[in-house]
This record gives sequence, structure tokens and C-alpha cells, in this order.
Amino acid sequence: MGIQISPSILNSDLSNLAAEVRRIESTADWVHVDVMDNHFVPNLTLGLPVVESLLASVSIPADCHLMIEDPDRWAPAYAEAGAKSVTFHVEAARNPVTLARDLRAAGARAGAAIKPGTSIESVRDIARELDMILIMTVEPGFGGQAFMDDMMGKVTEARRIADSSGLDIWVQVDGGIDARTIGIAAEAGANVFVAGSAVYRADDPADMVSRLRALAEAAAAQ
Ligand code: DX5
Ligand code: ZN
Repeated sequence: MGIQISPSILNSDLSNLAAEVRRIESTADWVHVDVMDNHFVPNLTLGLPVVESLLASVSIPADCHLMIEDPDRWAPAYAEAGAKSVTFHVEAARNPVTLARDLRAAGARAGAAIKPGTSIESVRDIARELDMILIMTVEPGFGGQAFMDDMMGKVTEARRIADSSGLDIWVQVDGGIDARTIGIAAEAGANVFVAGSAVYRADDPADMVSRLRALAEAAAAQ
């Protein structure tokens, strides 16, 4: 699968979520929804009822990034609610293989995320159960942070794991992705790009999504 852009609504106008998604619907592949529980990360955003409402009023698929404790218990409900991609953190999962299978059984693509301090080895053995590996390029919890270049080694290794599996495993990056950094991540091997503040701080968010896509495609083609 080629380059995909998944704008994060974390730094959009949260009092107008559906309208904020409509601003990017014409060009974005996904809407990235950051679920935080104030335990796994020191921030609290939104949960299942809000995701359910949002899904009912937007036309692009949801890419739910769950920064929560006990995803084994809570994540499958997001898939059952209709999220087409559900990503849990391996640091929080008790049984990632069972969880990934539960997510797929509920109709979602299963993603596993790793924080900057977590080794790629934590996903290597479970890769065949996954549809996506998310390499965090900031410490999870907040938008608007600086991209961590030193995560590119993990992105390249995730791409190797994905390619050598013979399966269509996607490699996502999240955090600090903008017009300067997206090419770096694409060259390293990422193909799904989350961008929050770069998209929603732009005058024309849909146009910024197209710009980011073009930059990633150019870098990936090199
Ligand atoms: C951070 C979230 C990100 C965040 C990215 O924990 O997972 O999805 O919204 O925001 P930017 O693109 O501003 O770094
Ligand atoms: Zn995210």
C-alpha cells in the first residue's frame, strides 16, 4: 500500500469535531483519533462515545491511536464501533497477540505502537499478527512537539520486518510530522503519516494534506 496521510484532530477545534474532520475529508485517507486516559500518558482526550458519534458523521475511516492502560480490555470496542484501524501500545498490552486477533475479528486493522524508549524488538515476533507498526516520533501525550530524527533507525527496521514478512504491513509515524520532516520519515521507510499541528495550523488543511502527500511520495520514490 502506498503513501497515506492521517491527520490528527488532537489540536483541532475539539468543540467542532465533525466540522474539523470535514475540512480534511477531501484529501485525507484517514482521520487519526488520539485516545488518552491520563494514566498511560499524562493527558486526557476523548473516548468511545465521542468516537462513535464522530464515526456516524464523517465519511473517511478512523485510525484510532489508543494511548491507554489495559488496551486488552478497552480496544476491541473501538473496532466494534466501526474504527477501521485500531492501534494499541505494546508497553500497555498484556497479551498483544490475542488483542491483535480480537481487533481483526471485530473488523479493524490491528496496529501496535512503540514509544521512543521502546525497542523495535518488542514488535518483531508479533508482526505477523499486525497490519501496522506505529513508531512514535515524539513522546506520546501532546501535539506540537519536535520530531525525533533518532527514531529513523527503528522506522527502517520496521520497514524491513514488514517487507520480509511478505504481508502488507504498514509502517506509521506519529509526532512532529510536517513539510520538513515527512520526507525524512518516508525515506526511512514509513508509508502512513500522522500530522496534527502541521495540518490544522495551515490556512487550508486539505491542501496541506495534499502537499504532505506529494512530499512523501517524492521522498519515497528516491
Ligand atoms: C501525540 C499524538 C499525536 C499528535 C501529533 O501523542 O499521538 O497523534 O496529535 O501531533 P503533531 O503532528 O502536532 O506532532
Ligand atoms: Zn497519535
